[in-house]
Amino acid sequence: MMSLDAVRKAVGPRFPIECRISGDDLTETGLDMEGCAEVAKMIEDKVDLFQVSCGNHEDPDVFCRTHPSAFYPRGVNVYLAANIKKHVKKPVACVGSLNDPAQMEEIIASGQADIVELGRALLADPYIPDKALHDRADDITPCLRCYECFGETMKSEAVKCTVNPIMGQQLSAKYVSEKPKRSKKVLIAGGGPAGMEAAITLAARGHKVTLAEKSGELGGNLHPAGAAKFKEDIRKLCEVLKNRVARADIQVVLNTEVTPEYVRRFAPDVLFVAIGSKELCPPIPGMELPHVIMAVDAELHPKKLGKKVAVMGGGLVGSEAAVSFHQKGHEVSIIEMKPEVALEVNSFYRGGLMPEIEKAAKCYTSAKVLEILPEGVKVEKEGREFVIEADSVVCALGFRAPYAEVDALCDEADESYIVGDCRNVAQIYHAVNQAYYAAMNV
Ligand SMILES: Cc1cc2nc3c(=O)[nH]c(=O)nc-3n(C[C@H](O)[C@H](O)[C@H](O)COP(=O)(O)OP(=O)(O)OC[C@H]3O[C@@H](n4cnc5c(N)ncnc54)[C@H](O)[C@@H]3O)c2cc1C
Ligand SMILES: Cc1cc2nc3c(=O)[nH]c(=O)nc-3n(C[C@H](O)[C@H](O)[C@H](O)COP(=O)(O)O)c2cc1C
Ligand code: SF4
Repeated sequence: MMSLDAVRKAVGPRFPIECRISGDDLTETGLDMEGCAEVAKMIEDKVDLFQVSCGNHEDPDVFCRTHPSAFYPRGVNVYLAANIKKHVKKPVACVGSLNDPAQMEEIIASGQADIVELGRALLADPYIPDKALHDRADDITPCLRCYECFGETMKSEAVKCTVNPIMGQQLSAKYVSEKPKRSKKVLIAGGGPAGMEAAITLAARGHKVTLAEKSGELGGNLHPAGAAKFKEDIRKLCEVLKNRVARADIQVVLNTEVTPEYVRRFAPDVLFVAIGSKELCPPIPGMELPHVIMAVDAELHPKKLGKKVAVMGGGLVGSEAAVSFHQKGHEVSIIEMKPEVALEVNSFYRGGLMPEIEKAAKCYTSAKVLEILPEGVKVEKEGREFVIEADSVVCALGFRAPYAEVDALCDEADESYIVGDCRNVAQIYHAVNQAYYAAMNV
């Protein structure tokens, strides 16, 4: 109360004050919905607008509700704004993982809130209001709720974004980027996120772009990455990038593997190599058995899985696959050599993922796969050997960059750039950002 009085004194009577409050602290020691409504009533005469969040930024258990993770439906906290609205007359705004203009309209039209506020959605696409206004919602770059913006903030104090490479570099993007002196003939090998982002950026810079993709569709590993129910944001990103490629002046050739011979015949001024990674398939005894399925195949074709599934490898791919298979009705185990699963995952995302893994799978950590048997997986844990029963065994033991293939392609072009997973196996953030900045160099 005293802080608000001090703020009012400092800004004067005509300056609007928006006060962010919690609609529910979601902890036993915090305020519940009723308590938060009491606070709103107490300060109503001191503020002009309420913004209703929830949880607590500093509490890892509820961080993923304050900044809702992909495991929650979009707009999961709107009901809290609606509750505050019942108790006050001043306008009330809601916030939390909103990015669909139709949903925002509905929230306001139904009277749940007076204003919709956006955080990460605007980092991912600062043009959402303009796109909503001009009926271009299908071109909104979706926030993936991956928390890379928080990760980057902790590392470098700059806010970066997985899907918006300009984030954190707006000034140089606006004033410093020089237009190319001449239009070049560019060949891009690989139509995953790296290849598509490079193609879109190069075409916008006026180059003559051909995007060649080995398979029958663009998207690359965005397809398995977006296969789980809770990865709808990645599915949307894939569609948005594909639509942008289709709208741009880009020649797309599908079912076309770029080989050194292809590059030689094509004779590009510039070659982009964006051919992605290969799944690791270690020589574990029994890998050749018919119930062993690679992680990408399992994500894309879950019908191949039997009732009991053992996932070898508890990194991001294995852990999320386990959650996804559980949601599809399978009984899942994860076998991981490290002492915990999902250890390399962004810590903020991990906060949302871990409770889902706990619900979804029995985790055998510090456990080594010895052999795959027809009835399951033989493991060794703390000196003890035993068999984890499984009808299907999913291999999620990592990926590698195909450096020999990459080098052979680069040898055929005077100017070449290597972007995405074939440069260094990583994530969409690296694929999109590397591709954009390499393309801005051409
Ligand atoms: C199951 C799974 C879940 C994932 N989840 C996430 C996640 O939640 N968040 C995240 O950030 N990342 C995730 N990733 C990683 C992310 O998908 C990759 O980092 C990203 O797709 C890499 O993009 P890329 O364009 O470099 O390669 P890719 O997406 O692999 O695309 C490469 C493309 O090149 C094509 N190609 C290959 N060779 C040739 C050739 N010689 N000529 C022409 N075309 C060729 C391929 O067919 C493919 O379409 C996940 C990956 C998987 C497999
Ligand atoms: C990079 C970043 C920094 C943030 N910093 C603050 C902050 O300093 N104070 C605050 O109250 N909220 C902060 N937030 C939270 C947002 O205001 C917002 O409530 C939250 O991200 C949920 O909305 P969203 O899902 O639309 O992002 C931050 C969010 C992001 C992404
Ligand atoms: S980094 Fe990830 S969570 Fe943050 S705004 Fe971008 S897409 Fe959203």
